[in-house]
Amino acid sequence: MHYGVVLLWATQLIEVQQNHMATMSATAAARKFVENDAQESVSEVNRQPLPEFHTGSESKIGIRNLNLTIGNNHILKDVSVEIPHKKITCIVGPSGCGKSTLLKTLNRLIDNVENVKVEGSIEVDGEDIYGKKVEITHIRKKLGLVSQRPTPLPMSIFDNVSYGCRIHGIRKKKVLAQIVETNLKAVGLWDEVKDRLHSPASALSGGQQQRLCLARGLAIEPKFILGDEATSALDPIASKLIEDLFVGLKENYGVVLVTHTLRQALRIADHVIFMYLGEIIESGPAKELFHNPQHPLTKQYLSGVFS
Ligand SMILES: Nc1ncnc2c1ncn2[C@@H]1O[C@H](COP(=O)(O)OP(=O)(O)O)[C@@H](O)[C@H]1O
Ligand SMILES: [Mg+2]
Repeated sequence: MHYGVVLLWATQLIEVQQNHMATMSATAAARKFVENDAQESVSEVNRQPLPEFHTGSESKIGIRNLNLTIGNNHILKDVSVEIPHKKITCIVGPSGCGKSTLLKTLNRLIDNVENVKVEGSIEVDGEDIYGKKVEITHIRKKLGLVSQRPTPLPMSIFDNVSYGCRIHGIRKKKVLAQIVETNLKAVGLWDEVKDRLHSPASALSGGQQQRLCLARGLAIEPKFILGDEATSALDPIASKLIEDLFVGLKENYGVVLVTHTLRQALRIADHVIFMYLGEIIESGPAKELFHNPQHPLTKQYLSGVFS
């Protein structure tokens, strides 16, 4: 089998396993969540910076005339916007307006949806990720996604963090151990788990699992981190930890977050994209958009006329 096919298969396997785990472990996760909650609430984020992998501050995502349909449903309508590197871009808008779909088109997770048709272009560093010769695994390496619910794989903490690297061919134990340590430190989890790296990841609390998933995503050295309501399933303390991590990560990465509350976007966004019924109504620097919205729909959304 061709190497690329193996990688593609393995990446899809992660997604399938993630979905499976999300469903199967809901009850167990809820139980552990309660058990570990107290432990996590006293732990502070002790994040240590990652080495700077990517220097190009000119790096960006450029979306042009993106139209997406699923069957006869026109879900994204002529979306054009630029997303900067080393900033936090928050995508906001009422439920069902296409935020998650837009995020999934960015790392081609949308390919897994039946009857989907994508037109237009999405360039990451000048490379069209929907180009004919592009390998999906190559794209997903550039854009790591953190889902709404933590989705640890059914394996140890160590194996979770090193999973993507092993798929990408890193085998040396010493190298993997270093990657695991660096990335667990980057999400402030090292001190909490260093003595039980080979225990199942499922024993961690919900917040710890979400940080583990973030560490797993960081381990493959993406350029952009995508988060789809990544804090919405967590208690306020765990949620704040993850939020603080995203803020720290923008030193080295582009961070794109679908946020479940406007308050979160107000706290952390550098740039904001406001969507409504599949269209981008307004986008721009957070201060301008929040303090001086131009479009009547943005004004209504910000003032709580609809949510
Ligand atoms: N797999 C799918 N099949 C058909 N319609 C879908 C699918 N996924 C999303 N949609 C539709 O696309 C629209 C946007 O959904 P979504 O991107 O999840 O919105 P948001 O994240 O803003 O709540 C909704 O009308 C939703 O019903
Ligand atoms: Mg959504």
